[in-house]
Amino acid sequence: MRESLEVQGSLRVPGDKSVSHRALMLAALARGTSTIRGILESADVHSTAGVLRALGWPVPDVSPDMRVEGSGLQSPARAALATLECGNSGTTTRLTAGIAAAQPFASVFTGDDSLSRRPMRRVAQPLEAMGARVEWLHAPDRLPMRIHGGALRSVSWELEVASAQLKSAILLAGLCGGVAVRVREPAPTRDHTEQMLRALGVPVGSDGGWITLGPVTSLPPANWHVPGDPSSAAFFLGLAALADRGELALDGVLASPFRDGFVRVLQRMGADVTREESNEGRAGSTERIVVRAGGPLRAITVVPDEIPAMIDELPLLAVLASRAEGETVVRGASELRVKESDRIAVTVANLRAIGADAEELPDGFIVRGNDAPLRGLVQVHADHRIAMAFGVLAATKGADIRIDDPECVAVSYPGFWGDLERVTRARLA
Ligand code: S3P
Repeated sequence: MRESLEVQGSLRVPGDKSVSHRALMLAALARGTSTIRGILESADVHSTAGVLRALGWPVPDVSPDMRVEGSGLQSPARAALATLECGNSGTTTRLTAGIAAAQPFASVFTGDDSLSRRPMRRVAQPLEAMGARVEWLHAPDRLPMRIHGGALRSVSWELEVASAQLKSAILLAGLCGGVAVRVREPAPTRDHTEQMLRALGVPVGSDGGWITLGPVTSLPPANWHVPGDPSSAAFFLGLAALADRGELALDGVLASPFRDGFVRVLQRMGADVTREESNEGRAGSTERIVVRAGGPLRAITVVPDEIPAMIDELPLLAVLASRAEGETVVRGASELRVKESDRIAVTVANLRAIGADAEELPDGFIVRGNDAPLRGLVQVHADHRIAMAFGVLAATKGADIRIDDPECVAVSYPGFWGDLERVTRARLA
């Protein structure tokens, strides 16, 4: 148990997970040699590489400076390998479902227990509207699912949930199928797919709230540079905001208005945060974010419009709120219930288990900050972001918190515990 927590130094977090998945897919689908620098080497990205390979694209092992020989929008294979193993990765499943729907063969998607509990009809429906057929092999709306792909037709699809994964699945299906598509989302979500396609010359536009993609017949290769993941950086920004002393700098973090909701919320909570544009990467601009420790945090209210830009950081926000002054309320986040775990139930149950004051709402949570000593066992339900959020809390002064499955961070940030160790200066009691 720490008597006090000091943070120090600077940290460069691994490559952005969303951009890494997309860079691999677009490199495989291009004609010619692409390079990818700084790709995230984590279990989820390995899943995407494995699925692309099983679909017939010759994708090499994921490595820091990789070259991919793309073979075009149609798979060089005549059939997919037996199954496409997506592991824990919703992004792998939904995005490659769009690619598979445009291939002239059937593919079976499977995943781990967590992924097999997540809804898949939301991606099946637009792909069926484009002409693919989806079979549920065990239960409706759940993996395993078989996608019978083939010639696709154009679609205009209005999404019921704000989801970059679903938007991207439709855009990738249109891309591989050589047909125009239009997608409307109920609220703007991360735009990496649109931006990266535009960088390759694909006509992606917007038209009265609709995102449009015009048909193309091939994709050129590119040199991708993956910036640091803001969702991974967030854990360290939160750690510094909770620390007693010191200052922590995060370098090379992807700067995007669709991803920086947590940084803005942290500022509103009273944390001492400075942001400086650094523009190191070519795939979007990057920033250096510095947080100085020591100030008290105050509670905030997060409204539904703010959710998409911080969807993956909400368990971390709940953890911070448990140490802030006042009552933090988050609404409009029911999507959290269908992430790697039910993140509303799991976050609230764990906060209560260690002595914090939290309650569930159907679409969010209420957390009342206090100074009670935090003690106990956190059950992460194999959810990487729950493990890291509570790992941050476990590092704070006076906490005595154990995490039941620390290894599950390998999904998005295999070096998390080592980095946490490096930037904290403990005075052990
Ligand atoms: C992602 C989109 C988000 C996010 C996930 C990554 C992406 O999911 O939670 O971690 O790369 O498109 P939804 O689109 O389902 O909200």
